[in-house]
Amino acid sequence: MLKQKGKGKFLVIDGIDGSGKSLQVKILQERLITQYGIASLATREPGGSPLAEKIRALLLQRTEYSMDAVTEALLFNAARRNHLLSVITPALEKGLWVLCDRFSLSGLAYQSAGGACTETLEILHSIAVSNTKDLYNNESQHPCIPDLGLLLDLPYEQALQRISINKQGIVKSTDAFECRDSNFFARVRANFLEHARSKQFLWSIIDARKSVGQVAEIIEKKVVRHFLLNPLTARHYDKNQSTTISGN
Ligand code: TYD
Repeated sequence: MLKQKGKGKFLVIDGIDGSGKSLQVKILQERLITQYGIASLATREPGGSPLAEKIRALLLQRTEYSMDAVTEALLFNAARRNHLLSVITPALEKGLWVLCDRFSLSGLAYQSAGGACTETLEILHSIAVSNTKDLYNNESQHPCIPDLGLLLDLPYEQALQRISINKQGIVKSTDAFECRDSNFFARVRANFLEHARSKQFLWSIIDARKSVGQVAEIIEKKVVRHFLLNPLTARHYDKNQSTTISGN
């Protein structure tokens, strides 16, 4: 059963494809354990649990079948719920920090860019993150929401360039989302910004045009300030305490 969050903290790094989220999750995980002695679990959406990874494969496959944005949202939220129940909540209860590459802000940004209305997406998301008991008994809700969200913001033109061409200048094959047109990505970026700005208590917006090192430094400062972290005085840590869910 999905319970109230335990001692761990739940951090999300989100943003448009190509914004560098996955790399920043890895860097933050390393910084947390080496500089602050904080063990974390790095995970991702869609995916992060065996069932959610299967749903991810279905969603990202380029097939001849078309899927409307609400069907997509139902599948993303089914994956999200399974990931929360089987991976995120147990880790938080053990006291681990959870660093998640994408979460519900992606759902709002991408599926509303695909045509679903915000109200529908908010309802589906609230079901996905609700406490199991609340869903069955209609009691007051204790949703599992992040403690801090970091949005890596990048102009969509740059995002498209980064996802289609890798560092060696080779054109990469794209998944079902990455192959959409530039208008779609323009809407995704605008949606990310709009929703993050409307929840400023939760989201910090970071300029992802900066170098990897600069972005990592900004993220670390925000995390330190938000959670009032103190650096380790003695270099005494066990790197093996942190884990990464496959795929990241
Ligand atoms: P991601 O894992 O970041 O892609 P990759 O590892 O290939 O860089 O995300 C896969 C795609 O899923 C991405 O284009 C955004 C999309 N997505 C949604 O449309 N809705 C959602 O709720 C989530 C979590 C992701």
